[in-house]
Amino acid sequence: MSPRLLRTPAELRAACDAARASGSSRTVALVPTMGALHEGHLSLAREARRRAGFVVASVFVNPTQFGPSDDFTRYPRDLDGDVNKLAAAGVDAVFAPSPGDMYPPGDDTRVRVGAVAAPLEGTHRPGHFEGVATVVAKLFAIVGPCAAVFGRKDYQQLLVVRAMTRDLFLPVEIVGHPIVREPDGLAMSSRNAYLSPEERARALGIVRGLAAAGRLFAGGERSRVALEGAVRASVEPIATSIDYVEARDGDTLAALGDSVGAPAALLVACRVGTTRLIDNLVLGEDPVPVA
Ligand code: PAJ
Repeated sequence: MSPRLLRTPAELRAACDAARASGSSRTVALVPTMGALHEGHLSLAREARRRAGFVVASVFVNPTQFGPSDDFTRYPRDLDGDVNKLAAAGVDAVFAPSPGDMYPPGDDTRVRVGAVAAPLEGTHRPGHFEGVATVVAKLFAIVGPCAAVFGRKDYQQLLVVRAMTRDLFLPVEIVGHPIVREPDGLAMSSRNAYLSPEERARALGIVRGLAAAGRLFAGGERSRVALEGAVRASVEPIATSIDYVEARDGDTLAALGDSVGAPAALLVACRVGTTRLIDNLVLGEDPVPVA
C-alpha cells in the first residue's frame, strides 16, 4: 500500500494522533532522512516497521545543517522514487515538508548539544550538529514517536541525538542501526552518487583501512597510533584531502591516550575528488567489514 504523503507539521501531527487513537497501531516510530534513499535508509525503515504499529519516514533536506560551502542546493532529490521505495519497506506515512514549513517566519530557536558535538564533524562542519539537533527535535515534537531509528554510518550524529534526547528528557528510544555497505564494502551514502567511476574505486581505500585496523585490533593491537596508522596507510593514497582519521572513546568521543580499549570508534572523514565521505568502525563492537 502507498504511504500517505504529508506536507505540513499540522497534517503529520494529525496523522500520528489518529494512529495512536486507533487501537491497532498505538506505537509510532520515526525514521528521519534527507531522501535520495538507498538500502541503508530502507534498512532503518524496516527496523522501525518491526518496532511500531505506525511508521513515519521524513524526507527533508534540512537547510540549517548545511554550511555556506556545503552541497545544499545540489544535494540529490527524488521524492517520487523515495516514496516508492518507502512503500516497499512498509512505511505508513512520508513527511516531506518545505523549508518554510519547518522554519516559518519568526522561527528563532536552536538546539545546541555540548561536548559530544564538538570534535570531528563539529570542528569541520561548524553549526552542522546544531542544525541536525534542531530539526530532529522539531520532528520528535511533531510526531511524538516512541522510537526513532538512526544509522551508525553517522556515528557522531547518533551520539549527538542520544545526548539531546537524554538531556531534554525526550520520551523517545533512540535506536542505532548497523552500517549497510555495498557488496565491495563501501558504506552506502546518498553522496556516493557524486563519485566518478574512478573515484568510486578509490573510495574503497576508506573501508579497506578500517578493515585493516579492525583485524589488527582483533589480533590484540591496542596502540592508538598503530590503529590510526593502519587506516591512514590506506586512506592517504586515495584521498584528495583528509579531515580526520581518529580513534576516540566509543561512547563520548573523548580523545584517547596511547592505548585503545573497547568500545573505541575509529572515525574517518575525507574527500575523494570533491565528494566528502565519512565512515567508521567501532572496535570490539562492529564486525570487521569485508573489503
Ligand atoms: P541522511 O544522510 O539522509 O541519513 C538518514 C539516516 O540514514 C541517518 O540516520 C543515517 O545515519 C542513516 N544512513 C545513511 N547511510 C546509511 C548506511 N549506509 N547504513 C546505515 N544507515 C545509514 O542523517 C541525515 O540524513 C540527517 O542529518 C537527518 C538525521 C535526517 C537530519 O536532517
